[in-house]
Amino acid sequence: MAAEQPIPVYTNLSDLYGSLGTSLNHAEKWNSIAEEFQQRFGRKPAYIARAPGRVNLIGEHIDYCLFGVLPAAIERDILIAIGRRPNPNAEDAPGSVVAENVQTKYTRQVFAPAPRRRASVSEEEVRLEEWHLDINTKQLRWESYVKAGYYGVLINYFAGGQNPASVDLLVTGTVPAGSGLSSSAAMVVASTLAFLAVNEKLEANFTGNGPKISKGQLVEMAVANEKRVGVNSGGMDQAASVISVPSSALYISFFPELSASAVPLPTGAIFIIANSLVVSDKAVTAKHNYNLRVVETLAAARILARHLELKVGKTEKVTLREVVGRLAGEVEEVGAMPVEWLLETLKRMEREIECLKPKKSSGEGQFGVTMEEMIEMSGMTAEEFKEVYLSWVEVEATQFQLYKRAKHVFSEASRVLQFRQICLAAESSPSPSDVIKDLGKLMNESQTSCDELFQCSCPELNELTNIAKDAGAIGSRLTGAGWGGCTVSLVAEGDVDAFIKKVSATYGPYKGLQDTALSEVIFATKPSSGACVYKFE
Ligand code: GLA
Repeated sequence: MAAEQPIPVYTNLSDLYGSLGTSLNHAEKWNSIAEEFQQRFGRKPAYIARAPGRVNLIGEHIDYCLFGVLPAAIERDILIAIGRRPNPNAEDAPGSVVAENVQTKYTRQVFAPAPRRRASVSEEEVRLEEWHLDINTKQLRWESYVKAGYYGVLINYFAGGQNPASVDLLVTGTVPAGSGLSSSAAMVVASTLAFLAVNEKLEANFTGNGPKISKGQLVEMAVANEKRVGVNSGGMDQAASVISVPSSALYISFFPELSASAVPLPTGAIFIIANSLVVSDKAVTAKHNYNLRVVETLAAARILARHLELKVGKTEKVTLREVVGRLAGEVEEVGAMPVEWLLETLKRMEREIECLKPKKSSGEGQFGVTMEEMIEMSGMTAEEFKEVYLSWVEVEATQFQLYKRAKHVFSEASRVLQFRQICLAAESSPSPSDVIKDLGKLMNESQTSCDELFQCSCPELNELTNIAKDAGAIGSRLTGAGWGGCTVSLVAEGDVDAFIKKVSATYGPYKGLQDTALSEVIFATKPSSGACVYKFE
């Protein structure tokens, strides 16, 4: 299985370029970061770690409910060149880092982890953390993502008084920040990999010996690392950045455990990414947007489980996927239920969610409940509810839209399964254009659901997806967390140039953009391979 494979480490650049499976010329970028490192730090780097961004084709905001999603890695990526400092000054703290970024707006940062012993309650199990790194979660800071990757390496590999190496590193990247293409996950994955490599931990597993770290292990580490920046994201972005394979999308499921399989994409159509140019940083807006949605879906799951009389542990944060499994009598140890069975149960759930509406609804479309109503519906005391659902995350809302969120999640989960089934059956389909039409329809339905039910779209994303459809896209939707960032459109191969021309001429913020500037904001993408490391010899 893809998640069990080791992280590829290359010592030959042509093998590495060949593995990326993209049409871009990567050589220039890799050479230039190596040269730039040499210029800035006076020696060659020891490693370059690469992690790509991703585009999500379908399945938005359902990964943290443990439903499967369908992203693909994109050609744009983050590279981190790293090397040990040969003669650390005596006053250098162990593991100190000089971090520079090729983009001049991101200034040089110097930091070091502080050794300390304290009980951590942020992990599932309470355990001793021996290191601490200050990460500012209130402000968007580029080095926070570098620190987040480092943090995981420190606490997983530097127990018992060992010291990490003092290093210099240089970051460069082509994934635009805050654009929904997962620049943050790419940064955290690349940083985790760079610190593992430079500390010679890449070949060892979590116990410090044994086989190489697997892709699945790296995903788990990167997910935990990214939480340190303040967002309780699911595992989609990290899994796509680590496990993706060229020319295919990746079906990632999280239940009963992380697994991933390649999904061939139908021929004759291309996915085009277009940036709305509304920057949405999910770390900064988390308490009103992203983290609030995580809490709303968890509360909805608890209330549904109560309504369906399913067993839930007193302090368990049961997810919507687990509720579906328990209702269907799925046995976790045996594995996930077959797709047809899951689709059936999802249909039933779309009826059961009526119980999430408030007792007295204040008008059509107003299905929100207050905090007090939500707690009462959960059957928990206020103290219990706050402890389980609100003590680990900061959220701010007067109304919680449990019904709408659950309706989106269940319908989106079934759209993902249908999308995947259509792709898998496409090869034997007598009519390729019908296949593409069916996929486009699911993408359009997903956009409507994201906008109306999950409320994670915004006027610019709605405008851009409408323009895309008018310009000939068969389907168009937002991709990633939303509230800004990019759209993804499915366009027939022969129509790509005309499509890009029409969208560029119509979407206001693109007016006046030409050549490179335009190709930065609207571009076709080919699924690329996942993260890897180049080792200088
Ligand atoms: C962000 C998160 C992902 C996922 C998407 C929405 O990208 O990092 O885990 O939840 O939003 O689908």
